Amino acid sequence: MCKTFEKVASEVNVVSIRVFALAYLMHKTTHVFPLLGVRNIEQLNENIIRARNQRLVSHVLKAGSSLKPTHIVHLPIRGEPLAPRAMSTTSPALQSHASLVEFGKRHVTKGIARQVEAVIEKGEGSYITLGDGRTMLDFTCGIAVTNLGHCHPKVSAAAAEQCMKLVHGQCSIGFHGPYLELIERLLPMMPHKSLDSFYFWNSGSEAVEGAVKMARAVTGKQNIIALQGAYHGRTYGAMALTKSKTIYSEGFHPLMPGVFTAPFPYWHHFSLPPTTPASQLTSLCLNQLELLLQQQTSPKDTAAIIIEPVIGEGGYVPAPPEFLQGLRKICDRDGILLIVDEVQSGFLRTGKNFAIEYSGVRPDILTVAKGLANGFPLSGIVSSRELSDKLKPSSMGGTYAGNAVACAAGVATADAFKEENILENVNARSKELFGYLEPLRSSAAVLDIRGQGLMVAVEFASPTGTSIHDPLRNPSAPAKMASRVSKRCQEKGMFILTTSAYEVVRFIPALNISKEDLKKGCDIFVEAVEEIVHEG
Ligand SMILES: Cc1ncc(COP(=O)(O)O)c(C=O)c1O
Repeated sequence: MCKTFEKVASEVNVVSIRVFALAYLMHKTTHVFPLLGVRNIEQLNENIIRARNQRLVSHVLKAGSSLKPTHIVHLPIRGEPLAPRAMSTTSPALQSHASLVEFGKRHVTKGIARQVEAVIEKGEGSYITLGDGRTMLDFTCGIAVTNLGHCHPKVSAAAAEQCMKLVHGQCSIGFHGPYLELIERLLPMMPHKSLDSFYFWNSGSEAVEGAVKMARAVTGKQNIIALQGAYHGRTYGAMALTKSKTIYSEGFHPLMPGVFTAPFPYWHHFSLPPTTPASQLTSLCLNQLELLLQQQTSPKDTAAIIIEPVIGEGGYVPAPPEFLQGLRKICDRDGILLIVDEVQSGFLRTGKNFAIEYSGVRPDILTVAKGLANGFPLSGIVSSRELSDKLKPSSMGGTYAGNAVACAAGVATADAFKEENILENVNARSKELFGYLEPLRSSAAVLDIRGQGLMVAVEFASPTGTSIHDPLRNPSAPAKMASRVSKRCQEKGMFILTTSAYEVVRFIPALNISKEDLKKGCDIFVEAVEEIVHEG
């Protein structure tokens, strides 16, 4: 380190250094170099990096100088990443991580819950870096979104390139290239060849809303059957179909009318043990559905049944193929449309392009989002042309629907799936994941380990169960295992989410996660489980 700088910095007389640095930036004069004890701009940059590393920026700002933080932050600095450091905002009041978090807590609605009171600064592959300097292994993928890892270079590059060409090519004005190119990429990925008509929107909830509108419009019927434990989103129509937790609709009634609920083949819903055969659960559920159609909503009034082939927010439970096949038969018999919601389970997540492929069932309408564009807001409603041709022009649309940048990201995502053999990685890592988790089955605290591909869950026993009537209640099990394990993993450097009204932790790592990172995450998880069980 240059002597003069060291001396000045040690005296925390950094204000003058900043003033000289700013003077250089503003007047582009090299006269200030001798005063700063540096020979050239490179040396000045290095010294500024060191100063920032020593958290001296805040001294400068606090000193009330007229320096704008942006002048410093935007210096063409090179060098190692800084941690913890000044944040790249434009406001002097928000320059420390703590001040940003405080600002967020004060001004971001209480209606949004968070895993961690921190600012997510950067994402790269399976890792995210927080503003407090921590780098975390991410087993959440932003809730099953960044399937190719954060900021996949090809996806980000495609989006950046599209940004300079066309950002907003409004879908009611005309086609745009990435929209059509994305359809071209998705056509061969569809779980049935009849699915050849697309409409893109922004979020999963909007896709569900679009699917419901379409089902009502083309059948001329009103009622929709959703399944217990389902999650289809938080907008009004989607919220009415969401049956995983009351928190999503509490206080927001009345909801969209015409929604009925049938049981999903999850042993919990019948207070049966996890070992209950799929065939038994399938018969129970199909029989209940038939009763529903006889007692509550006639097939003549029922437009659609909507189902997630793997319920996500309801506990990461795959539907048995025979159940899905049974639904298809009932729909065909009664002229009801089958909407398959693959917003969370789609795009290779379960070890197939789409989870519905495990059953061979044809969806009438497929909803997709999340992994479609690896983080860019984009969703899709897919059906046969025969169905979508029944829609009146202008009955669908939306200002930002099928944004050009998001579609370009979607094209790059689909290309990367193929070029990088992602499906192979999913299936190889999935085997390893189940291998790491399998020994936990012998623990009395663990009720079930289940899932497909890299959409996997561990369910813990609960001392309270759902109520005193719950025969699966285990009074000796540790309380609130799922949230405690998730929190402990966080303390150990990994984000992992809980799910459902039960004690479930879900694994949703990036689909291109390395062998090493998968093992690292599993080691953290197993260690956390052992600790919590020990603590009781
Ligand atoms: C199956 C399913 N459908 C719909 C949605 C809603 O998607 P979004 O949050 O993008 O509105 C989700 C979100 O988690 C989902 O998992």
